[in-house]
Amino acid sequence: MIQFHKVSKVYPNGALALLKVDLHIPPVDFVFLVGPSGAGKSTLMKLIIRQELPSEGQVVVNGKNVARLRKSEIPLLRRKVGVIFQDFKLLPDRTVWENVAFALEVAEVSPREIRKRVPAILQLVGLEHKASALPGELSGGEQQRVSLARAVVHNPLVLLADEPTGNLDPATSLEIMELLERINLRGTTVVMATHNREIVDRMKKRVVALEGGRVVRDEQKGRYGR
Ligand SMILES: Nc1ncnc2c1ncn2[C@@H]1O[C@H](COP(=O)(O)OP(=O)(O)O)[C@@H](O)[C@H]1O
Ligand SMILES: [Mg+2]
Repeated sequence: MIQFHKVSKVYPNGALALLKVDLHIPPVDFVFLVGPSGAGKSTLMKLIIRQELPSEGQVVVNGKNVARLRKSEIPLLRRKVGVIFQDFKLLPDRTVWENVAFALEVAEVSPREIRKRVPAILQLVGLEHKASALPGELSGGEQQRVSLARAVVHNPLVLLADEPTGNLDPATSLEIMELLERINLRGTTVVMATHNREIVDRMKKRVVALEGGRVVRDEQKGRYGR
């Protein structure tokens, strides 16, 4: 599903973010990306959605070298790869329903289809009853569930989650993890960057550790630390 072939990334200011990363993530894998701040976790994700281009090497997503995509193909890639962040990034002046529907509107999905898909996905994340609330009226956990609904409403092949529990308390974090696991079981590959040791140790998934831009560990049913 995702392949990195000797991928290096140096930012224009000279910062080395990734160094000769080789990584293969098969379909429907669930991978934790761990490593200290600055290790390159967010950069790795940005390369998958072509928010950044590699300085060297190839990033292949669903069989395509993302650097070679035409401009017109980039929106398609971003529909195949949903993304959630620590700070939710919801539109504050739109309701829960509108936040999710917006993701479909920009993809030119028909209003009829939108009316079908939005309630189904809100149900999946347990927020049907909050459809007309504004993000500011929700708890952090609820906001993250809205952002998750928005990220998976296209049924993406891959879900990237960049420290999704970074602003949440432990109980709420576990609820989000249960949802990520459910989304994974529905067939979506999940890649999650995290500093949350407890979650990584509890979930017993593949763990890829980065340090200074290099993959220093890659273990099935891994733990947060060595
Ligand atoms: N847009 C950018 N411009 C310049 N340097 C950057 C940029 N984004 C990240 N970096 C640098 O690249 C390295 C990796 O950062 P990042 O991928 O954000 O790591 P992590 O997500 O693991 O904290 C760091 O040294 C960081 O300062
Ligand atoms: Mg980061």
